[in-house]
Formats: sequence, structure tokens, C-alpha cells
Amino acid sequence: MNDGLPASAPRILLAIETSCDETAIAVMDEKGHVPVHRIFSQIDQHRPFGGVVPEVASRCHVEALPPMLDEVIAAAGLDWSAIEGVAFTRGPGLATSLLTGMASARALAYRLQCPITGVNHLHGHAVSIRLTRNGGMKDIALPALILLVSGGHTMLLLEETPARYRLLGQTLDDAAGEALDKGAKLMGLGYPGGPEIEAHARTGDPAAFAFPRGLARNQEASHRYCFSFSGLKTSLMVLLKREPSLKESRLADLAASYQEAVVDALMLRVVDALDHLPIRTLACAGGVARNARLREKLSAAADHSGVALALTEPEFCADNAAMIAASARLLNTWADPVAADLDVLPGWGLGEDTGTPHH
Ligand code: KG4
Ligand code: ZN
Repeated sequence: MNDGLPASAPRILLAIETSCDETAIAVMDEKGHVPVHRIFSQIDQHRPFGGVVPEVASRCHVEALPPMLDEVIAAAGLDWSAIEGVAFTRGPGLATSLLTGMASARALAYRLQCPITGVNHLHGHAVSIRLTRNGGMKDIALPALILLVSGGHTMLLLEETPARYRLLGQTLDDAAGEALDKGAKLMGLGYPGGPEIEAHARTGDPAAFAFPRGLARNQEASHRYCFSFSGLKTSLMVLLKREPSLKESRLADLAASYQEAVVDALMLRVVDALDHLPIRTLACAGGVARNARLREKLSAAADHSGVALALTEPEFCADNAAMIAASARLLNTWADPVAADLDVLPGWGLGEDTGTPHH
């Protein structure tokens, strides 16, 4: 889809993602193909604390970036001079982690005398539905309904114009990934909780325990497409306080039932939106989009509604730099690394000035 790049657009991009606990780098060519991308996960460093520690994260980014950058360029068979644009994650995320990526990107762009752009991490997740493993970026039939589910965010987006997103609704409390992470902790499972719960759920009965499905369907209009997961977490906590032995005797059933409640709460809103909006593609992105049960239900919903399905490739669901390159490519808003007044935006939302990262 990118054969028609504007003449001034950088062709070969290098992207750096450091918003949280993954250091990620990617190269994207002029066709939107990603010949090399690397993700260094700091999970082992944070596991002893049961969650991400910001100081540890930024130190890990600083150590990981220089050797990773060299390795990615070598693996792509490129010379540094081939890079025509550098993209970095400007927000949202941990301020100190974002700063490490921005500093590297800025130094590189300055040295390579090429333009730079600050990307919105959520915009990156949203455009990740277009990334393919071996080709360029694919076209999506619009309007698309995108369920963006990560550790920090749960949003329902409407894409009517390419790479522009309207927020239909989001979580009022915990994110879906956060609900899985907290639930796993209560069950005595490891971090991150999503994959742990999914693994144990495989042999369990999803109907064994009746957990709440978040907000009832008929909410006030402004909350129609919103989510809530705090009640689910509380109900697990209450159950395990009453019967702590369930953690041993019924772990698989607990995991399967809890996962089912998270997936159902998401699907309730997705199906409502599919029923009421003129959608042509149902899409899903973010770390939780790796979940097989969620993928299965989304696929069934798309079939039932007769719309196309665009689930982000599992390899591009969790935080990665290919999606940052994709966002930079699609928005094509570049700045001079010296003149630009660059900064990070730890609380940056989606739709807030997303297409104009520099002032
Ligand atoms: O998008 P992501 O990598 O990071 C953020 O931007 O937050 O998402 C991380 C979240 C974590 O909550 C993790 O438990 C969840 O994605 N996750 C999963 C699976 N793999 C990762 N949740 C359910 N099933 C999975 N297979
Ligand atoms: Zn993310």
C-alpha cells in the first residue's frame, strides 16, 4: 500500500520503542516490510518485584539499546547511512523509559542527518493490525472496529479514515491485561499473568465459576462501549478468601472461568458495536490479543456479522518497534532533529494531537 510514498518521505526507517519494560528496535523498508525487528523483554529483571519497576526499566533500556541497535543494522544487512528516518515512542508510558528511547533516537537522527518523529504508542498498537510477517503493510476495509487490549489500556476504536481513530469507549478502571495480571497474582501464578492464566485455562472448565462480566449491557449512552474489570478481580479475591484451597484443588477451572469472564466482558461490547455500527472489519491489537480464546471468539463474531477479520499477528501484539515504524510511516510527520522541540508525553492519549507530534 506504500508504493505511492510522497517524494520527500524517508524510505528506510529505524524505530525505537521503550515505553515500558520492553526494549524494541525495528527496521522498515519503503514497502512497509519489516526485515528485522527485535524485542528484548525485561520480564526476568522485574519478576522478583511482581510488576514493572520504573528505575530498573530505564537502566535496562540504557544498557540494551547500543548493542541492539548495532545488531539490528547488521542483521538487516544495512549500512547506518541507509537509514532515512528515525521514529521513537513519545508516549504514553514511563517517563524515564521514554526518555532513554528519545535520547537514542535523537542522537542517531542527528548523527545520520535524517528526520525524526515521535510516535504515540497506542497509535502504534492500532496500526499493528496492518503488519504482515513477510510482506508489506496490508489494506484494511474501513470502517474498522478495533479492540485495543494491552496491560495498560482497553479501548474500542473506530477507524473510518486510514490511521485516524475515534475512541468509542474504554475501561473505567483496570485494563483487561491488568485484570489478568492481578487475577494471576491472586491465584498464585507468575507475572505476566495473561499467558499464565491462558496456559492453566487449557485444561479447565470455563463455566466452573460464575464471575461477573463487567458493566451490564444497557448502560447510559456515554458508557455504552466502556469496560470495567475491578468487580471481576474483587469477586475472585472474595472467593479465594473464603476458600483458599481452590488455588490448589481447582486452579485450571479458576483460570478458565476467570479468562472466560475477561473475554466475555470484551466481547459484549464488541458485539454491541458490530450490531449497531456500519463496520467492515473487526480488528484486535495489543498484548492480550495473543490470547487464543479471545481470537477464537472474535473470529466467530466476525463470521457471524459477515465482516472481515484483522487480528494483529501474534508476533506484533505485545510491545514492539515494528508498530512504531508503521505509525511513523502512515502519519508521515517528520521533524528536524536539531530544530525540533522534542519531549516525551507520558500521559499521551489516543486522538489527542496524534498526527502532529512536533510543535
Ligand atoms: O501490549 P502489551 O505487551 O504491553 C502494554 O502496552 O501494556 O500487553 C501486556 C499485557 C499483559 O497484561 C499480559 O498479561 C497480557 O498482555 N498478555 C496476555 C497474553 N500475552 C500477554 N493476556 C492474555 N493472553 C495472552 N496469551
Ligand atoms: Zn503496549
